[in-house]
Amino acid sequence: MAALILEGVTKIYPTRTQPLPVLRGIDLRMESGNRVAVIGPSGSGKSTLLNIVGGMDQPSSGRVLLNGEDPAQLNPAALARFRGRNIGFVFQDHHLLPQCNVLENVLIPVLAEGRVREDDLRHATELLERVGLAARSRHLPGELSGGERQRTAIARALIRHPVLVLADEPTGNLDATSAEQVRDLLFRTTDAFGTMLILVTHNERLAASAERVFRLEEGRLSPVTT
Ligand SMILES: Nc1ncnc2c1ncn2[C@@H]1O[C@H](COP(=O)(O)OP(=O)(O)OP(=O)(O)O)[C@@H](O)[C@H]1O
Ligand SMILES: [Mg+2]
Repeated sequence: MAALILEGVTKIYPTRTQPLPVLRGIDLRMESGNRVAVIGPSGSGKSTLLNIVGGMDQPSSGRVLLNGEDPAQLNPAALARFRGRNIGFVFQDHHLLPQCNVLENVLIPVLAEGRVREDDLRHATELLERVGLAARSRHLPGELSGGERQRTAIARALIRHPVLVLADEPTGNLDATSAEQVRDLLFRTTDAFGTMLILVTHNERLAASAERVFRLEEGRLSPVTT
């Protein structure tokens, strides 16, 4: 069973004036299939927290364990492999490659690791069906709606069977209906694969559909009862 453990994670950014404490001791435990939503004011450290969980940044103290491994202990090459194998990212701006079509974009994490096999192609096609984009697989990102781009980004995040998906305001640029569709898809696809999901959002209504909702404020996570 996959597990994510955060123990006493702090982050203090050095700045030109005085050090800026952003995370003041974050504890969290998740297992396969768990969904967590994180809300909180702008600047409260939500992206900082996701970056640390995703191994893109290191905590000032405390640790992150994903299936028993601490990304902060890995060298850059091992960290890149660890991330590719275990974590899928969905950002507010989809970060799709404009010159690659939908199918190619979904396969980029596979290409980053080696060549695309028959199995990968089948999985990509299946994921595009799941997110309702089978008919758009040859479109370029510029030929998609905002919601379709985010759905492509979800398929891309799942292509390598990650144990954890980190979504940083994936619906931030979408209208209410598209936002709910993207949320539903994130939930359904992560459910189908037993993937853990951390969803950062400004939208309390979207957040409330996760089993556990936390507010990040003044460097701490507190449960929100809905
Ligand atoms: N590299 C950095 N150096 C110094 N301060 C930083 C750095 N990155 C972020 N910060 C500060 O840390 C705080 C938290 O930033 P973060 O991006 O995590 O907030 P957030 O909760 O994701 O906000 P938003 O909802 O606006 O996306 C902010 O006050 C920001 O200015
Ligand atoms: Mg942010």
